[in-house]
Amino acid sequence: MRKNIVAGNWKMNNDLPATEALILDLLKQEQTSNAEVMIAPTTVSLFQAFNATKNSNIEVIAQNMHYAESGAYTGEISASMLKSVGVKTVILGHSERRAYFNETDELLAKKVDAALKNNMRIIFCFGEELTDRKAGNQEKIVGSQIKNALFHLEAAAFKHIVLAYEPVWAIGTGETASPKQAQDMHQFIRQTLNTKYGNQVADDMTILYGGSVKPANAKEIFGKPDVDGGLIGGAALKSQDFYAIINAF
Ligand code: 13P
Repeated sequence: MRKNIVAGNWKMNNDLPATEALILDLLKQEQTSNAEVMIAPTTVSLFQAFNATKNSNIEVIAQNMHYAESGAYTGEISASMLKSVGVKTVILGHSERRAYFNETDELLAKKVDAALKNNMRIIFCFGEELTDRKAGNQEKIVGSQIKNALFHLEAAAFKHIVLAYEPVWAIGTGETASPKQAQDMHQFIRQTLNTKYGNQVADDMTILYGGSVKPANAKEIFGKPDVDGGLIGGAALKSQDFYAIINAF
């Protein structure tokens, strides 16, 4: 079933005290929409964040994970480790992971498989760079990112996947895709799913938009028929802004 979701990706912001303080602030906000709410604090704070949100409807999710179950991968974290601290959802394929940590479609396919094997839900991110958009190649790039990392899966796997279209040129830049640009791409993504997996998978897929979403533009973006929510960076670090976005539905 398609859902409305607003997820805050905190990236490498907020140490443990700041995480606890922001969660306390978030818990004071009022939610007037029926969107599912998620926050992705840094890995070292996940356990405390999970405990601090236990009696709320905020789900604590992870920003990344490794594909292996365990072993000699210094500095990495496995799906079962995340699950052991209460995390059931993981963001994979964020453009910052792709750009700064060389995460390829091939590697992401392995991470996707590992997350699914561990019964985790995935928020799978992708999006074109400015040069791609300027050359009119955005659909080609996005289509191949989706196909390369996800199209080896069976249709049933898509029940555990949320897609997040994040054009790289709109992340942290203050420049948002226009509601029409977001809608056009989300429609293309749904069509791409439809062609391979049929109507049901395409219709049921929750597709988030990410890239400079703010209280001022959330309503218009979320108002588009194929935009089911947002993956929020900067504005997720301010409790009132985050809830204004959540309540924009
Ligand atoms: P901003 O909202 O800061 O542009 O970040 C978007 C993002 O990358 C969320 O994952």
